[in-house]
Amino acid sequence: MSFDTTAANRKAGRFEDRDELWLFGYGSLIYKAGFDYIERQPATITGWQRRFWQGSHDHRGTPDVPGRVATLVEAPGAICIGMAYRITPAVFGHLDHREKNGYLRFATEMRFADGRRDEGLVYIATADNEAWLGDASIDAIAGQIAVSHGPSGPNRDYLLNLAEALRALDADDAHVFAIEARLREIEAEHGR
Ligand code: BEZ
Repeated sequence: MSFDTTAANRKAGRFEDRDELWLFGYGSLIYKAGFDYIERQPATITGWQRRFWQGSHDHRGTPDVPGRVATLVEAPGAICIGMAYRITPAVFGHLDHREKNGYLRFATEMRFADGRRDEGLVYIATADNEAWLGDASIDAIAGQIAVSHGPSGPNRDYLLNLAEALRALDADDAHVFAIEARLREIEAEHGR
């Protein structure tokens, strides 16, 4: 079974004729870029909410024990806070490979703290990708995150780093903070 979206993203090709563009990060990109960028600033997009509904077989889990990582799901009127990076298209090659486990590029409008708006890209894993896990209880999601780890490290570190980064942005993300709280309970129950 292939989870690889690299070829689809290369074919999509949007924005590649531009010298630079904005990329909106809402998951690990908030706290770790791992690529060169021209500038970065907090931003929001409208109509999407963060959910730990995407399986991770290659970063925070394995094919046998997949982790759970963030994607965005449509939610009319919702505002999602993240970090926007002004990048050159060369960065796509890196990101298409790094995020090849089901994420596709979408164009979106983003809004910056000073009120400016611009169009850019965001990587989203949708329900039709093969690594999709979908909704589950907060308890089940936290339990899965507690036991998963992959080449990029423990799934718990991804969750806790994201929660901390969201607090630093003053983001009110009930889904992420509920999973974080349940993870800490699970770890306390297991003396970790
Ligand atoms: C992000 O952190 O925004 C992100 C999530 C999935 C793929 C690429 C980026």
